[in-house]
Amino acid sequence: MIKRVNHIAIAVKNIEETAALYRDVLGLNPGEVHTVPDQGVKAVMIPIGDGEIELIEPLSPDSGVGKFLENKGEGIHHICLEVDDVDKELASLGGKGVSLIDKVGRAGLAGKVGFVHPRSTKGVLFELAQPTGHGKGGS
Ligand code: CO
Repeated sequence: MIKRVNHIAIAVKNIEETAALYRDVLGLNPGEVHTVPDQGVKAVMIPIGDGEIELIEPLSPDSGVGKFLENKGEGIHHICLEVDDVDKELASLGGKGVSLIDKVGRAGLAGKVGFVHPRSTKGVLFELAQPTGHGKGGS
């Protein structure tokens, strides 16, 4: 079951500079910058109410996010939907003919996560996340 929007992720060229903008101009409170080698990014979560904005900067130009920046420029990269069981949700979507990037969940900043291919969802990259441990976080 899809429960809520967990976070919206924005691809950026410089994560420190962008986090400073969210802090100094928007008055928000970015967390620490994490390196997530598995996804080829540096990432920081910025809590807003009961949701978050995630900033992601590619570790290299030939990574998925690196190519996204080159093709589309900075902007919204994915929307993360919170689910109660990520494996079950991925299997259910796969059974409905939806193309999946991940057939099963894997560890991410937002918990156990899996990505759905945007060719099946009208151009939007959806991440599904099943939070684990201490509440919120992103990926
Ligand atoms: Co994410």
